[in-house]
Amino acid sequence: RAGLPKGAADADAPLAGRTLAMVFEKSSTRTRVSFDMAMRQLGGSALVLDAGTTQLGRGESVADTARVLSGYCDAVMIRTDDHAKLTEMAAHATVPVVNGLTDASHPCQIMADLMTLLEAGRALPGLKVAWLGDGNNVLASLVEAAALMRFEVVAACPQGFQPDEEAIVAASGRARVVADPREAVEGADVVVTDTWISMGQDDGGQEGAATKLAALAPYQVTPALMAAAKPDAAFLHCLPAHRGEEVATEVIDGPQSLVWPEAENRLHVQKSILRWCFGQIG
Ligand code: CP
Ligand code: NVA
Repeated sequence: RAGLPKGAADADAPLAGRTLAMVFEKSSTRTRVSFDMAMRQLGGSALVLDAGTTQLGRGESVADTARVLSGYCDAVMIRTDDHAKLTEMAAHATVPVVNGLTDASHPCQIMADLMTLLEAGRALPGLKVAWLGDGNNVLASLVEAAALMRFEVVAACPQGFQPDEEAIVAASGRARVVADPREAVEGADVVVTDTWISMGQDDGGQEGAATKLAALAPYQVTPALMAAAKPDAAFLHCLPAHRGEEVATEVIDGPQSLVWPEAENRLHVQKSILRWCFGQIG
């Protein structure tokens, strides 16, 4: 693609000559591969920086890393254990910074989820989306999207594992938290769940994990709970899944499950996110 000025988009390879640095402080399959393949398919390239094998792992600041990476790469994606590191990266980088998951949110995932629902013919405004289980980072992004896209989220979470009240309030009435999983799924168009123990939460020891699993047990997405949702309700899960914990095998592998297109849509959505970052789409 020599000769193409950096600002100009080649229709076949709109990200030709662009490089994405991907900083990972946590494991990933989907985020890592979908961003990498998105860059390749759009004509650019990506490099994986495992925090543990860079100077970040030896205490170099996120701010200094941001300044240095900005001199080599055209965008940075970061998956981190601390949302403050994402905002520090964004504050000091002079290139776009993408949130590839933090302890507080996972917006790229929810964009893929919404694309999956649209592809399945569901108009977003007015949808009832039930979330069952842990009030985690993925739920936070779902709630944020509800306010923007005008759908309703009813999250059933046990005491002690509910989402931040602030996030619910910020959703301007589009989200509420209940204790009863049946109340959440009743009449729902979509049922969503996620792992009960997120990355970085597995340090509570065996006892901590056992307490959490026991509290969450009634929130497993079972065939009986799916039957209380609308007959054509879709099931979503960002993956990785733990069959027999947050979801029954019959549900995730059943006809209402959209988890495979949902995972594939990470690729398509990443392309839009990247092109948006470079000002190529509105
Ligand atoms: N859903 C998701 O973000 O998966 P990975 O952890 O594999 O990237
Ligand atoms: N809530 C999960 C999502 C993984 C994609 C986690 O943070 O580990």
